[in-house]
Amino acid sequence: MSAEERINYEEIEIVGDGRGTMQGDYLLNQDRPMDRIRWLLECFPEWGRFLNRQIAETQVEKGNYALWWTGGMGFVLKSPGGAVLLVDNYAGPAHYTEYEYCGVCRTSGAPTIDWMRLNPQVIDIFGFEALDGVFCSHQHADHTDIYTLKAAAQTTDCTFFGPLSAVERMRNFKVPEERIHTVRPGEKYQIKDVTIEILPNFDRIATMTGGPGVEVKPGVRRPYDDVAVTFFFKVDGVNLCHLADSLFQNAYVTFRKYDIDVLTFNIGYNAPGGTDKMTPYDAVRLGEAMGAKLLLPMHWDNWGNTTVDPEEVRWVAQRHTPDKKIVIPQWGVKWLYPAQADIGKMKYDDWRERYRPEYSWEYGRPAIEAANARGEFVPY
Ligand SMILES: [Fe+2]
Ligand SMILES: [Fe+2]
Repeated sequence: MSAEERINYEEIEIVGDGRGTMQGDYLLNQDRPMDRIRWLLECFPEWGRFLNRQIAETQVEKGNYALWWTGGMGFVLKSPGGAVLLVDNYAGPAHYTEYEYCGVCRTSGAPTIDWMRLNPQVIDIFGFEALDGVFCSHQHADHTDIYTLKAAAQTTDCTFFGPLSAVERMRNFKVPEERIHTVRPGEKYQIKDVTIEILPNFDRIATMTGGPGVEVKPGVRRPYDDVAVTFFFKVDGVNLCHLADSLFQNAYVTFRKYDIDVLTFNIGYNAPGGTDKMTPYDAVRLGEAMGAKLLLPMHWDNWGNTTVDPEEVRWVAQRHTPDKKIVIPQWGVKWLYPAQADIGKMKYDDWRERYRPEYSWEYGRPAIEAANARGEFVPY
């Protein structure tokens, strides 16, 4: 690459009108020097800052909350009072884990497991205009994510919440101690108009997971309350219970007293000898046991080795708990609860409100004028 072609990485920005994604003209018609760093900076995250902007501009109607699913168990929650909470977000790459520290390897006996990331990066973790809280349900990499933690610590003044196992990782990643809350079941926190109750969580895999300074060995697991928690978010009269990576447990029947509106939980398919995710059948039973009104299945999407069709939840639920609402999430779609409780599946914008039939080259004024010029009646 010649001197005049040298790329100044500091000057690379999203070329466009400010909506957070690249202008098509720049992509199609503008030549420029290219190297690997420029490719990464221009193409990653895949959605640019589109979602950051939408989240910042969204004013949530009273009596609702807005949720944007970021893949896996991750989502952004926004309240009518303007609280922005980032929960179990994973901004990292495909990777592999090993028997030395990985709970799933230790369960299955696998020396190593490849976790191939399938979902796009829909949010720029360095691009939050405001962020009030980062929540990590347990210590696994896809919930206590080094990239998310470092970005939030550097670019916002949010506080960080997690059980001891997650806080151990936060400290390792140098999240400032004064911004960390080590949470335990029974506690309650308030962020603007959101109350967060900390409830128990039965994540068996997390009890076998190692880490810096962590002592676990065959037959010696960490206590549930040290490794994983359930976040129960109460927003303006409605709520969301986030079970994260918990597996099925009979004791969840005691959650019935919380009058749960929306239950977020993991599902997946498991190879024999290792149960990393709940089956759709487990999830429906759990939703029934807890009396949750709406099931929002997550984590089926992001790892190649455990992926499953979320419609299986609906199939099972229709046969056993037909009164239960199900919403299949889609990455990066804004979803309002309860306003959109009945949509069945989140839907991407198709921007139809921008369509202008009179401008169509196929059947609008330009087409009619061209047809008239040719002496034809039919414009198409
Ligand atoms: Fe996990
Ligand atoms: Fe996970």
